[in-house]
Amino acid sequence: MPSLTVHAGGLTLRNPVMLAAGILGTTGASLRRAALAGAGGVVTKSLGSVPRDGHPGPTIVQVDCGLLNAMGLPNPSYKKFQEEIDIARTGGVPVVASIFGSSAEEFAGIARGLDADAFELNLSCPHAEKYGSELGRYPDLVEAVTGAVKAAANAPVWVKLTPNTADIVELGQAAQRGGADAVVAINTLKAMAIDIETGYPILGNRFGGLSGPAIKPVAVRSVYDLALRLDIPVIGVGGVTSWEDAVEMIMAGACAVQVGTALQKGYGIFEEISLGLARYLERKSMTLEDIRGMAGRHY
Ligand SMILES: Cc1cc2nc3c(=O)[nH]c(=O)nc-3n(C[C@H](O)[C@H](O)[C@H](O)COP(=O)(O)O)c2cc1C
Repeated sequence: MPSLTVHAGGLTLRNPVMLAAGILGTTGASLRRAALAGAGGVVTKSLGSVPRDGHPGPTIVQVDCGLLNAMGLPNPSYKKFQEEIDIARTGGVPVVASIFGSSAEEFAGIARGLDADAFELNLSCPHAEKYGSELGRYPDLVEAVTGAVKAAANAPVWVKLTPNTADIVELGQAAQRGGADAVVAINTLKAMAIDIETGYPILGNRFGGLSGPAIKPVAVRSVYDLALRLDIPVIGVGGVTSWEDAVEMIMAGACAVQVGTALQKGYGIFEEISLGLARYLERKSMTLEDIRGMAGRHY
């Protein structure tokens, strides 16, 4: 079987199929379980500086071709999470801490206080006031936050970008100027659903973020544009549900992919995607490097 090892954004991954932020990453045990099930790396739930309960329910709705969520960044704060990261690390793969804050200083303080293999800056949550995409849609703020965390952290820094903007490449370029080791694209798309019997929005927060197969073409296009224009690696996320989706994302230019919503199918998804990817490369007599960014080389 061809090697699936990748060097992505300052980390070495045994395979390019990672667990995405916020999905099962709420405890060290579930992160470790994803690692033991075959994930090449795992990302925690986003951690802030103080505990948050998140939004009132319902916080998740199943819609056609995906999920709509407005969790509202519930988390116990980074101060209570180091132990969980240490447990997750016994799974034997890199553990990336997803963090959020309302200012460059807050982000930097969290990065200083946590020991993780890399940091993923959540500058892209579409449903949390003062956080996420409210900061992350301004290139100058993306650059400032990235620079502050780079100066504070002793691990690689990845920046997760929002698709809810006119130009995601501008945000990627800002992250690169700030010194990011990689960008992660994409977070969820701002969306809503309405109960037609009552006329009320279904989510407690009224609007939330759309994920799953519905957003895959948006993610593929974002990764493609970013990979063509940036010098740093791009990690692709959004609707990856099968090995075919992973191949498509890598052909768009991704070094690695993250899987979120498809975890509804169970932890077996990691091995299923890795195995399919390895068999595909073997059948084509190609390596991961051969197919990475292939779509961009045809023009
Ligand atoms: C229930 C749920 C919770 C999420 N929580 C976070 C989070 O805490 N931080 C973050 O950066 N992204 C979060 N995301 C976004 C995912 O990491 C991912 O970017 C998005 O769902 C697209 O990938 P997918 O289609 O594979 O799910 C969450 C997504 C879902 C569905």
